[in-house]
Amino acid sequence: MSAIVYLGGTFLPVEEARVPVLDRGFIFGDGVYEVIPAYSRQPFCLDAHLARLAASLAAIRVANPHSDTQWARLIGEVIARNEPEDQAVYLQVTRGAAPRDHSFPAGVSPTVFLMANPLKPVPAEQVENGVSAVSLPDNRWLRCDIKSVSLLGNVLLRQAATDAGAAECVLFRDGFLTEGSASNIFAVKAGALLVPPKSNLILPGITCDVIVELARTNAIPVAVRPVTEAETRAADELWLSSSTREVLAITALDGKPVAAGLPGPVFRKMHALFQARKRALAAAPAHA
Ligand code: PDD
Repeated sequence: MSAIVYLGGTFLPVEEARVPVLDRGFIFGDGVYEVIPAYSRQPFCLDAHLARLAASLAAIRVANPHSDTQWARLIGEVIARNEPEDQAVYLQVTRGAAPRDHSFPAGVSPTVFLMANPLKPVPAEQVENGVSAVSLPDNRWLRCDIKSVSLLGNVLLRQAATDAGAAECVLFRDGFLTEGSASNIFAVKAGALLVPPKSNLILPGITCDVIVELARTNAIPVAVRPVTEAETRAADELWLSSSTREVLAITALDGKPVAAGLPGPVFRKMHALFQARKRALAAAPAHA
């Protein structure tokens, strides 16, 4: 059965979905997106994803085409129309189709697209052993807080990591840790979680917020503050988080082991807390 997607008001097989070539998402990367995990068909942290979507749309000055209730209905419907129990809902809004001109066109309606890809389980091997990463200068633009579909910077950085045989990159700007190409990055020192603060230089990750909340409610000390490159390199543990990778330990950076080169005790505790949070969602479906 082919995947069913939503495009501009209609649900249809992915092979039949067509976007005009003059869509500004295609021409300029002029749009924003969200990736929302759904476990046992229940969207995880839906309200937070919709709030971030609204913030991204406001930042690019596109009127939100739907209320949160309408978005929740569309997301629920795309999940229902696809097979896997666990799905990654991809949602994209572009400024719409218009003759090519950098300035905003008048009178266009945004293009709304949703698809639901299978959410692959995070490999047990990666949870057990962690993943490797390479450090790179963060050479992206200065509005990384917008979840923009203009991802060329992120794509090139991720490919550099892939070329180096690594799962992710750890980005530094002006001597400070920012994030990864498609994940937030954390350090652990002396049992405390160090989290780079939200700013224009990083995406406010929903998984990151869950991790910070779980740490605060489970007696793991948290410091939300700028983290230097030196602190990152001297960390006891490094983690990455995203909606598709959940939380993983980075156990090698630039080919060198992070501390003992194995996921540390704080990671193990957080991983267990995160899995419990997911199971709680599946057991008690909620609009959350
Ligand atoms: N990416 N930082 C960047 C640059 C990201 O692209 C992502 C997520 C994150 C983590 O955010 P969250 O926890 O809300 O998923 C941080 C998604 C998964 C993607 O582009 O596929």
